[in-house]
Amino acid sequence: MITIALPKGRIAEETLEIFAQIFDREFKFDNRKLILEVGDFRFLNVRNQDVPTYVEHGSADIGVVGLDVITEKELDIIELLDMNLGKCKVSIGIKNEDELDWSKPNIKVATKMVNITNKYFASKAVGVEVIKLYGSIELAPLVGLCDAIVDIVETGATMKENGLKVAEDIMDSSAYLIANKNSYYAKKDEILELYKSIKQVVDSRA
Ligand code: PRP
Repeated sequence: MITIALPKGRIAEETLEIFAQIFDREFKFDNRKLILEVGDFRFLNVRNQDVPTYVEHGSADIGVVGLDVITEKELDIIELLDMNLGKCKVSIGIKNEDELDWSKPNIKVATKMVNITNKYFASKAVGVEVIKLYGSIELAPLVGLCDAIVDIVETGATMKENGLKVAEDIMDSSAYLIANKNSYYAKKDEILELYKSIKQVVDSRA
């Protein structure tokens, strides 16, 4: 049995579609169910940010999670494959009428991604005051909580709807297949076989 942690939403749906294609059967969570068992696979339906936690602790052997989350959390896991889905960028956003003033002694930045933000501003040798938020980040500059945000941009619609623009891109992200280190050695054959099948589908879609 292989346990696979999937982030709720579109990435989970697309990953289950890949499984359906490989095994030629239906993979679908029942309404509000958090565990799905099909054959030798058990899928866990978890929050995006929690996928690595399940994998790192070995409660899931493998998982699918954004490179942004992997980078933010500096995880002790194995990155198996870029699945080429859930593509987005981590970007700095500011109000349409603003310019990012790099000479400001301390730029106030609201974000979920504290580590990525600190590292990026440190790499530019610019002082930053990071304000940690848990969601609806685009609101923060509108009410004066910060000068800028660091957040995920997928379609750009959320920023646009809120009168924000991208000042700079920090990194590209997409969903990665990751594995727990112990599982990877203990279940190497099963995991590698699955990896190969998934890679084949991912490559055929590219
Ligand atoms: C993410 C992100 C942005 C939005 C970007 O939020 O934090 O708000 O998606 O997508 P877009 O460029 O296509 O508009 P999410 O929906 O995950 O909610 P959250 O803020 O609660 O994490």
